[in-house]
Amino acid sequence: MNQGLANQVVLVTGGARGMGAEHAEELVALGAKVVVADVLEREGRALVDKIGQGAVFAHLDVTDADAWKRAIALTEDTFGPVRHLVNNAGVLTYGSLESLDERAFRRTIDVNLTGAWLGMRAALPSLRRAGGGSIVNVASTAGLIGYAHFGAYVASKWGLRGLTKTAALELSREGIRVNLLHPGPIRTPMIEGLDAHLVDTQPIDRIGEPHEVTAMLIFLLTEATYSTGCEFVIDGGATLGQLETRATQPG
Ligand SMILES: NC(=O)c1ccc[n+]([C@@H]2O[C@H](COP(=O)([O-])OP(=O)(O)OC[C@H]3O[C@@H](n4cnc5c(N)ncnc54)[C@H](O)[C@@H]3O)[C@@H](O)[C@H]2O)c1
Repeated sequence: MNQGLANQVVLVTGGARGMGAEHAEELVALGAKVVVADVLEREGRALVDKIGQGAVFAHLDVTDADAWKRAIALTEDTFGPVRHLVNNAGVLTYGSLESLDERAFRRTIDVNLTGAWLGMRAALPSLRRAGGGSIVNVASTAGLIGYAHFGAYVASKWGLRGLTKTAALELSREGIRVNLLHPGPIRTPMIEGLDAHLVDTQPIDRIGEPHEVTAMLIFLLTEATYSTGCEFVIDGGATLGQLETRATQPG
């Protein structure tokens, strides 16, 4: 058992499915107490039933400040103060600059960026009561480069990157580390139906698995004690550069 996680209280947003569900299962297997917070009530409750004693479900829309207060209160009543917050909830929206619906743009920013800010703000008193801890914000390779037709998503993840670095500075002297995860394409419901050729030109030419991201998350929560405001990329080399170039030799 990873001693760094035994009885540690972790709140994972978007924990009902996809990567969040994998994080919740593996963290509990390592002895942590996990709050699975999500809008997906049925999936979330089914997951905590499957996991057993170390997990509890909290209905949370990350864009709702009052719901955040309730989720933190439920966490403290059930397991005690929050030691680690994983802002993993997110939505992906498709649309070019001209075609994207304004409501969809605003909603994407609201969930992916404002939601993480509301979460950090709400969890902070609890993290202090825990005597410090850490926050991991889940961004994306879309927080490192641009992707045509995903402007809202890209903007939300670049924003989250800036917010994370600011939070890391503000909280550094309180023993609270704040770091970023940047997954590339990972096999979850979020990217189901996206182009099958997504990874053809990627150096490691396969879709990643959620457990590969969980491994990095566990490292960040337990071992990365000298890292704050840092960015950890799990993308099969997607952001490395072009695998092949057609440039001819000069001269
Ligand atoms: N799958 C990928 O290829 C990929 C790549 C890079 C980054 N990410 C990021 O990883 C995170 C997890 O994504 P995933 O791939 O597991 O997707 P997913 O769609 O399977 O899971 C996302 C979860 O977030 C929840 N959620 C959405 N809006 C919410 C809200 N307002 N309040 C609370 N919960 C909400 C959903 O209900 C769902 O359970 C997201 O932040 C996503 O942007 C995913």
